[in-house]
Amino acid sequence: MQGSLRGNAGPRYRHLAEDGAPYETLSVDKLTPIIGAEIGGIDLSKPLGNRQQDEVHRALAENSVIFFRDQHITPDQHVAFGRLFGELHVHPAAPHESGRPELMIIHADKDSPRANGEGWHSDVSCDPEPPMGSILYIKRCPPRGGDTLFASMYAAYEALSDRMKAYLDGMTAIHDGEQVYRGLYANYGIADKPKYPRAEHPVIRTHPVTGRKALYVNRGFTRALVGVPRDESDGILRYLYEHMENPLFQCRFRWRQNSIAFWDNRCVQHRAMWDYWPHTRSGNRVTVAGDRPY
Ligand code: SIN
Repeated sequence: MQGSLRGNAGPRYRHLAEDGAPYETLSVDKLTPIIGAEIGGIDLSKPLGNRQQDEVHRALAENSVIFFRDQHITPDQHVAFGRLFGELHVHPAAPHESGRPELMIIHADKDSPRANGEGWHSDVSCDPEPPMGSILYIKRCPPRGGDTLFASMYAAYEALSDRMKAYLDGMTAIHDGEQVYRGLYANYGIADKPKYPRAEHPVIRTHPVTGRKALYVNRGFTRALVGVPRDESDGILRYLYEHMENPLFQCRFRWRQNSIAFWDNRCVQHRAMWDYWPHTRSGNRVTVAGDRPY
Protein backbone atom coordinates (compact mmCIF):
# COMPACT_ATOMS: atom_id res chain seq x y z
CA MET A 1 0.00 0.00 0.00
CA GLN A 2 1.49 3.34 -1.05
CA GLY A 3 -1.20 5.72 0.20
CA SER A 4 -0.88 8.19 3.04
CA LEU A 5 -2.99 8.34 6.17
CA ARG A 6 -4.20 11.84 5.32
CA GLY A 7 -7.71 12.94 4.47
CA ASN A 8 -9.57 10.86 1.99
CA ALA A 9 -7.46 7.78 2.73
CA GLY A 10 -9.93 7.15 5.57
CA PRO A 11 -12.47 4.64 4.34
CA ARG A 12 -9.71 2.64 2.70
CA TYR A 13 -8.16 1.79 6.05
CA ARG A 14 -11.18 1.76 8.29
CA HIS A 15 -11.69 -1.98 7.97
CA LEU A 16 -8.07 -2.55 8.93
CA ALA A 17 -8.65 -0.88 12.25
CA GLU A 18 -11.75 -2.91 12.92
CA ASP A 19 -11.32 -6.41 11.65
CA GLY A 20 -9.08 -7.68 14.47
CA ALA A 21 -7.36 -10.12 12.10
CA PRO A 22 -3.93 -11.33 13.15
CA TYR A 23 -0.92 -9.44 11.84
CA GLU A 24 1.21 -11.33 9.33
CA THR A 25 4.43 -9.32 9.20
CA LEU A 26 4.67 -7.72 12.67
CA SER A 27 4.14 -8.49 16.31
CA VAL A 28 1.92 -6.02 18.17
CA ASP A 29 2.13 -6.02 21.95
CA LYS A 30 -0.41 -3.68 23.49
CA LEU A 31 0.72 -1.56 26.45
CA THR A 32 -2.87 -1.00 27.61
CA PRO A 33 -6.26 -1.97 26.17
CA ILE A 34 -6.84 1.69 25.20
CA ILE A 35 -3.63 3.16 23.86
CA GLY A 36 -0.12 2.21 22.82
CA ALA A 37 1.56 -0.88 21.40
CA GLU A 38 5.10 -2.08 20.98
CA ILE A 39 5.81 -3.30 17.45
CA GLY A 40 8.26 -6.17 16.89
CA GLY A 41 9.57 -8.10 13.93
CA ILE A 42 10.48 -5.04 11.88
CA ASP A 43 13.78 -3.42 10.92
CA LEU A 44 13.25 0.20 9.90
CA SER A 45 16.73 0.42 8.35
CA LYS A 46 15.46 -1.88 5.56
CA PRO A 47 12.83 -0.98 2.95
CA LEU A 48 9.39 -2.12 4.10
CA GLY A 49 7.31 -4.31 1.82
CA ASN A 50 3.78 -3.23 0.96
CA ARG A 51 2.23 -5.67 3.41
CA GLN A 52 4.46 -4.48 6.24
CA GLN A 53 3.67 -0.82 5.45
CA ASP A 54 -0.03 -1.70 5.54
CA GLU A 55 0.40 -3.34 8.90
CA VAL A 56 2.29 -0.39 10.41
CA HIS A 57 -0.58 1.85 9.24
CA ARG A 58 -3.06 -0.53 10.78
CA ALA A 59 -1.14 -0.77 14.08
CA LEU A 60 -1.11 3.02 14.33
CA ALA A 61 -4.84 3.25 13.58
CA GLU A 62 -5.63 0.60 16.18
CA ASN A 63 -3.32 1.81 18.95
CA SER A 64 -2.88 5.58 18.35
CA VAL A 65 0.80 5.44 19.34
CA ILE A 66 3.27 2.70 18.43
CA PHE A 67 6.78 2.01 19.65
CA PHE A 68 9.80 0.34 18.05
CA ARG A 69 12.85 -0.85 20.00
CA ASP A 70 16.49 -1.34 18.98
CA GLN A 71 16.28 0.48 15.68
CA HIS A 72 19.50 1.67 14.05
CA ILE A 73 18.49 4.11 11.37
CA THR A 74 20.27 6.96 9.62
CA PRO A 75 18.71 10.44 9.33
CA ASP A 76 17.80 9.63 5.72
CA GLN A 77 16.08 6.40 6.78
CA HIS A 78 14.18 8.28 9.48
CA VAL A 79 12.98 10.80 6.89
CA ALA A 80 12.13 8.05 4.40
CA PHE A 81 10.05 6.23 7.03
CA GLY A 82 8.12 9.46 7.72
CA ARG A 83 7.46 9.94 4.00
CA LEU A 84 5.68 6.58 3.85
CA PHE A 85 2.86 8.32 5.73
CA GLY A 86 2.66 11.57 3.76
CA GLU A 87 4.52 14.81 3.17
CA LEU A 88 6.69 16.06 5.99
CA HIS A 89 5.86 19.02 8.19
CA VAL A 90 8.51 21.59 9.10
CA HIS A 91 8.21 23.01 12.61
CA PRO A 92 7.47 26.75 12.64
CA ALA A 93 9.95 27.51 15.44
CA ALA A 94 12.07 24.62 16.71
CA PRO A 95 15.74 23.98 15.80
CA HIS A 96 16.61 21.35 13.23
CA GLU A 97 19.70 19.51 12.06
CA SER A 98 21.93 21.61 9.83
CA GLY A 99 20.47 21.77 6.31
CA ARG A 100 17.68 19.30 7.29
CA PRO A 101 14.57 21.26 8.28
CA GLU A 102 12.53 18.04 8.44
CA LEU A 103 14.77 16.68 11.23
CA MET A 104 13.74 18.54 14.37
CA ILE A 105 16.18 18.41 17.28
CA ILE A 106 14.87 17.08 20.58
CA HIS A 107 17.57 17.64 23.18
CA ALA A 108 17.95 18.50 26.85
CA ASP A 109 21.10 18.46 28.97
CA LYS A 110 22.48 20.06 32.11
CA ASP A 111 22.61 23.50 30.45
CA SER A 112 19.09 23.45 29.01
CA PRO A 113 16.61 25.99 30.35
CA ARG A 114 13.77 23.60 29.49
CA ALA A 115 12.94 20.40 27.59
CA ASN A 116 10.56 19.95 24.66
CA GLY A 117 6.96 19.05 25.27
CA GLU A 118 6.80 19.29 29.06
CA GLY A 119 3.06 20.06 29.10
CA TRP A 120 0.17 18.10 27.57
CA HIS A 121 -0.26 18.99 23.92
CA SER A 122 -0.92 17.82 20.38
CA ASP A 123 1.95 18.88 18.14
CA VAL A 124 1.60 22.30 16.50
CA SER A 125 -2.19 22.28 16.79
CA CYS A 126 -1.98 26.03 16.07
CA ASP A 127 -1.29 25.23 12.40
CA PRO A 128 -4.33 25.47 10.09
CA GLU A 129 -3.32 21.94 8.97
CA PRO A 130 -1.72 20.43 12.09
CA PRO A 131 0.64 17.46 11.82
CA MET A 132 -0.94 14.05 11.39
CA GLY A 133 1.82 12.27 13.28
CA SER A 134 5.25 12.57 14.85
CA ILE A 135 8.06 10.03 14.75
CA LEU A 136 10.56 10.54 17.55
CA TYR A 137 13.86 8.63 17.51
CA ILE A 138 15.76 8.89 20.80
CA LYS A 139 19.42 7.97 20.47
CA ARG A 140 20.73 9.06 23.84
CA CYS A 141 18.87 8.37 27.08
CA PRO A 142 19.41 9.40 30.67
CA PRO A 143 20.12 6.53 33.10
CA ARG A 144 16.57 6.90 34.45
CA GLY A 145 13.57 9.06 33.61
CA GLY A 146 12.73 10.97 30.44
CA ASP A 147 9.57 8.90 29.84
CA THR A 148 6.82 10.22 27.57
CA LEU A 149 3.14 10.01 28.53
CA PHE A 150 0.48 9.59 25.86
CA ALA A 151 -3.27 10.06 26.30
CA SER A 152 -6.07 8.84 24.03
CA MET A 153 -8.39 11.65 22.99
CA TYR A 154 -10.85 9.03 21.71
CA ALA A 155 -11.14 7.69 25.24
CA ALA A 156 -11.38 11.22 26.66
CA TYR A 157 -14.20 12.06 24.23
CA GLU A 158 -16.07 8.81 24.80
CA ALA A 159 -15.98 9.28 28.58
CA LEU A 160 -17.68 12.70 28.43
CA SER A 161 -21.33 12.83 29.48
CA ASP A 162 -23.93 12.91 26.71
CA ARG A 163 -24.84 16.44 27.81
CA MET A 164 -21.22 17.61 27.52
CA LYS A 165 -20.87 15.92 24.11
CA ALA A 166 -24.01 17.75 22.94
CA TYR A 167 -22.69 21.08 24.31
CA LEU A 168 -19.35 20.69 22.49
CA ASP A 169 -20.85 19.40 19.25
CA GLY A 170 -20.15 21.93 16.47
CA MET A 171 -18.09 24.18 18.75
CA THR A 172 -14.69 25.52 17.66
CA ALA A 173 -11.66 26.80 19.55
CA ILE A 174 -8.75 29.12 18.81
CA HIS A 175 -5.27 27.57 18.89
CA ASP A 176 -2.37 30.01 18.91
CA GLY A 177 1.41 29.48 18.67
CA GLU A 178 2.36 33.04 19.62
CA GLN A 179 2.60 32.66 23.41
CA VAL A 180 4.15 29.20 23.03
CA TYR A 181 6.90 29.87 20.52
CA ARG A 182 7.99 33.51 20.90
CA GLY A 183 11.43 33.43 22.51
CA LEU A 184 11.18 29.69 23.22
CA TYR A 185 14.30 28.68 21.33
CA ALA A 186 16.44 31.74 22.11
CA ASN A 187 18.92 29.44 23.88
CA TYR A 188 19.65 27.88 20.46
CA GLY A 189 20.28 31.35 19.03
CA ILE A 190 17.08 31.12 16.96
CA ALA A 191 15.57 34.48 16.01
CA ASP A 192 11.80 34.78 16.32
CA LYS A 193 9.55 34.82 13.26
CA PRO A 194 7.39 37.93 12.77
CA LYS A 195 4.37 35.79 13.59
CA TYR A 196 3.44 32.23 14.50
CA PRO A 197 0.50 30.10 13.32
CA ARG A 198 -2.99 30.58 14.69
CA ALA A 199 -6.06 28.57 13.69
CA GLU A 200 -9.66 27.78 14.60
CA HIS A 201 -10.42 24.05 14.94
CA PRO A 202 -13.39 21.93 15.99
CA VAL A 203 -13.32 21.00 19.67
CA ILE A 204 -14.36 17.48 18.69
CA ARG A 205 -12.69 16.23 15.54
CA THR A 206 -13.39 13.17 13.46
CA HIS A 207 -10.39 10.99 12.68
CA PRO A 208 -10.17 10.69 8.88
CA VAL A 209 -8.97 7.09 9.03
CA THR A 210 -10.90 5.44 11.84
CA GLY A 211 -14.00 7.66 11.70
CA ARG A 212 -13.89 7.94 15.52
CA LYS A 213 -14.43 11.21 17.38
CA ALA A 214 -11.63 12.69 19.48
CA LEU A 215 -11.34 15.63 21.86
CA TYR A 216 -9.13 18.25 20.20
CA VAL A 217 -8.25 20.98 22.72
CA ASN A 218 -4.98 21.07 24.61
CA ARG A 219 -3.30 23.09 27.34
CA GLY A 220 -0.38 23.99 25.09
CA PHE A 221 -2.09 25.79 22.24
CA THR A 222 -5.83 26.20 22.82
CA ARG A 223 -6.68 29.73 23.91
CA ALA A 224 -10.48 30.00 23.91
CA LEU A 225 -13.74 28.44 22.83
CA VAL A 226 -15.45 30.48 20.13
CA GLY A 227 -18.91 31.98 20.67
CA VAL A 228 -19.15 31.81 24.46
CA PRO A 229 -18.12 34.34 27.14
CA ARG A 230 -14.49 34.25 28.24
CA ASP A 231 -15.23 33.02 31.77
CA GLU A 232 -17.37 30.18 30.40
CA SER A 233 -14.62 29.25 27.93
CA ASP A 234 -11.99 29.23 30.69
CA GLY A 235 -14.18 27.07 32.92
CA ILE A 236 -15.05 24.52 30.23
CA LEU A 237 -11.46 24.27 28.97
CA ARG A 238 -10.20 23.80 32.53
CA TYR A 239 -12.70 20.96 32.99
CA LEU A 240 -11.73 19.34 29.67
CA TYR A 241 -7.99 19.50 30.47
CA GLU A 242 -8.53 17.88 33.87
CA HIS A 243 -10.79 15.29 32.29
CA MET A 244 -8.34 14.32 29.54
CA GLU A 245 -5.52 13.88 32.05
CA ASN A 246 -7.29 10.92 33.70
CA PRO A 247 -4.65 8.14 33.88
CA LEU A 248 -7.25 5.70 32.55
CA PHE A 249 -6.72 7.19 29.09
CA GLN A 250 -2.92 7.01 29.20
CA CYS A 251 0.12 4.91 28.57
CA ARG A 252 3.67 5.76 29.56
CA PHE A 253 6.67 4.88 27.42
CA ARG A 254 10.02 4.16 29.01
CA TRP A 255 12.65 4.99 26.45
CA ARG A 256 15.80 3.02 25.80
CA GLN A 257 18.56 4.07 23.46
CA ASN A 258 17.48 3.63 19.81
CA SER A 259 13.75 3.49 20.48
CA ILE A 260 11.17 5.16 18.25
CA ALA A 261 7.70 6.42 19.15
CA PHE A 262 5.20 7.22 16.41
CA TRP A 263 2.08 9.00 17.66
CA ASP A 264 -1.04 10.16 15.89
CA ASN A 265 -1.61 13.81 16.80
CA ARG A 266 -5.22 13.65 15.62
CA CYS A 267 -6.26 11.43 18.52
CA VAL A 268 -3.37 11.60 21.03
CA GLN A 269 -1.86 14.18 23.34
CA HIS A 270 1.54 13.67 24.88
CA ARG A 271 3.72 15.04 27.62
CA ALA A 272 7.48 14.59 28.07
CA MET A 273 8.93 14.21 31.58
CA TRP A 274 12.01 16.31 32.31
CA ASP A 275 12.98 14.48 35.48
CA TYR A 276 16.53 13.52 34.45
CA TRP A 277 18.53 16.75 34.90
CA PRO A 278 21.58 16.98 34.80
CA HIS A 279 21.64 14.03 32.36
CA THR A 280 21.22 14.23 28.60
CA ARG A 281 18.37 12.99 26.44
CA SER A 282 18.68 13.51 22.72
CA GLY A 283 17.22 12.56 19.35
CA ASN A 284 15.33 13.74 16.30
CA ARG A 285 11.69 14.05 15.39
CA VAL A 286 10.27 13.72 11.90
CA THR A 287 6.76 15.10 11.65
CA VAL A 288 4.19 14.03 9.08
CA ALA A 289 1.90 16.71 7.65
CA GLY A 290 -1.84 16.52 8.24
CA ASP A 291 -5.15 17.96 7.08
CA ARG A 292 -7.50 20.63 8.33
CA PRO A 293 -9.44 19.02 11.20
CA TYR A 294 -13.18 18.47 10.76
C1 SIN B 1 7.69 16.40 21.77
O1 SIN B 1 7.81 16.13 20.58
O2 SIN B 1 6.73 17.04 22.21
C2 SIN B 1 8.74 15.87 22.72
C3 SIN B 1 8.38 14.52 23.19
C4 SIN B 1 9.48 13.88 23.96
O3 SIN B 1 10.60 14.41 23.99
O4 SIN B 1 9.25 12.80 24.52
